[in-house]
Amino acid sequence: MSSDKKITIAIDGYSSCGKSTLAKELAKELNYLFVDSGAMYRAVTLFALRNNYISNNDLDSSGLISQLSKINLHFELNTDTNTPELILNGQNVAEEIRTPVVSSYVSKVAELREVREKLVLEQRIMGEKGGVIMDGRDIGSVVFPNAELKFFITAEVATRTQRRYDELVKRGFETTLEAVQKNLIQRDYIDSHREESPLIKTNDAIEIDNTNLSRSEQLSLALSFVKKKVIEQNYTLT
Ligand code: DC
Repeated sequence: MSSDKKITIAIDGYSSCGKSTLAKELAKELNYLFVDSGAMYRAVTLFALRNNYISNNDLDSSGLISQLSKINLHFELNTDTNTPELILNGQNVAEEIRTPVVSSYVSKVAELREVREKLVLEQRIMGEKGGVIMDGRDIGSVVFPNAELKFFITAEVATRTQRRYDELVKRGFETTLEAVQKNLIQRDYIDSHREESPLIKTNDAIEIDNTNLSRSEQLSLALSFVKKKVIEQNYTLT
C-alpha cells in the first residue's frame, strides 16, 4: 500500500530555459501546487521600483531592506488559465513583473540576504505539506534540500534568447535579440556568482538539456523520473 504523502519537486536552472513551463505542466499532470519563486523576487523588485529604491541604475539596498515587512505576497489561481498569479499587497502583478525593466534589476535585488531570507521562509511554508513543484535558482540547494526529486534544466544560450525574445514580442514589448541575450548572460552570471545561495547544480539533481527537446518530449522525460521516484519511495502519484 502506498503512503498518501506527495513528493516535493525542485526545478532549478538558468534564465529562460523553460523551468516554469515544465513546472506548470508537471503540476497540471500531477495535480500538484506550482510555485514560481522567480515571480516573488520579481515582485520585490517591482516594489523597489515603485517606491524609488531603484533609480538611475542604483539600488538603495538598506532602504529596500527596511521596508521588507511591508511586502505581502501570495499566489491566487487564475481559473481561466489555471495558473497561479502573484498578488503584491493586494494587487495582481502577474503582467508587470515580466517587464524588461524588472528583468534588468531583479538579479541585483535577489543578491540581498534579507530578501532571500524572507522569500525562502515563505516558500518553505508553501511547500511544507509536499505536493509542490517549485522552480527557481536555489530550490534544490537551499529551499528544499531534502526534496525527493530535483531537476536542473539547461539549454543553449541562443535557444534561450530566442524563446525569451519571442515571449516578449508576443506580449507587445519592443526589444532586440542582442538586448535579450545581454540581459540573460548578465543575470546568469550574477545568479551563479553571488555570495548568497548562488545557482548550483546539486549532486542529486537530474540534468535535462532541452535545447533539442519539444515541450511534450521534456514533459514525458520528466514524468518518467517522477513515476520512477514515486514507485521507488512508495508515495502517491497524484
Ligand atoms: O526565474 P526568473 O527569471 O523569473 O527569476 C528572476 C530572477 O530572480 C533571477 O534572475 C534570479 C532570481 N531568483 C533567485 O535568485 N532565486 C530563485 N529561487 C528564483 C529567482
